[in-house]
Amino acid sequence: MGFSHAASGFKGEFCGRVYSLIKGRSWITLVVLIKCSSLYTTCLGRLSQPVNPKLTRRRFIKGVIASGVAAASTSLWYTASGQSRPAGAVERLLTISVNGQTRRVDVAPQETLAHTLRYKLGLTGAKLGCNRGECGSCTVLADDVNIYSCSTLTHEVKNKAILTVEGLRAADGTLHPIQAAFIQELSPQCGFCTSGQIMSAVALLKSNPRPTREEARNALSGNLCRCGAYDHYLNGVMRASGQLS
Ligand code: FES
Ligand code: FES
Repeated sequence: MGFSHAASGFKGEFCGRVYSLIKGRSWITLVVLIKCSSLYTTCLGRLSQPVNPKLTRRRFIKGVIASGVAAASTSLWYTASGQSRPAGAVERLLTISVNGQTRRVDVAPQETLAHTLRYKLGLTGAKLGCNRGECGSCTVLADDVNIYSCSTLTHEVKNKAILTVEGLRAADGTLHPIQAAFIQELSPQCGFCTSGQIMSAVALLKSNPRPTREEARNALSGNLCRCGAYDHYLNGVMRASGQLS
């Protein structure tokens, strides 16, 4: 009995408070109040939900990949529908020239060329050593100039001809003169820096077919070799340029 009295007293007090809250307010204010209270209730509900125990690492990665696919398809949609891109949006679907082939690839705005080559196009000849522009193991050519692909955005070089170590061999399998000379001079030791050394040497011979040893040393100075095989690589450059018999 006492409990029902208390309950009816509470109801009366609650109704009185609600009435005082809405009394004299415009209908717009009332709508805002109702919306806010509904949002507050929803947030409380979300916060009180337990963390999804089925969210495993595998599912999380699948979700990330799916979001990448969604982004790519958005790009495709803009291309296919002929709609103009929203202001500030970057074209992700690039057509780039790699080793004489035209490749279509989805590239994030902040993506490095090394990433695109290795993980999107399967060209793993450019190695990732330091991944910060110090060792040269990721060297490739862009319009015949040697660059560090780990420190170059793919979007920066989308209009240039990219050449990687995979593109040096002739169609019949004949090695590039630099590759053959490096083998003859036993230049690679562990081999990790070799593709970068090759690409810098190729760039040198394109611009200077008969370099002096000192010029070759300068040209390859951006390619570090932890095995210390520098003289062997220089011998290879001299041999490839016909200055060593
Ligand atoms: S990996 Fe690019 S410079 Fe070292
Ligand atoms: S051959 Fe080993 S790092 Fe150069």
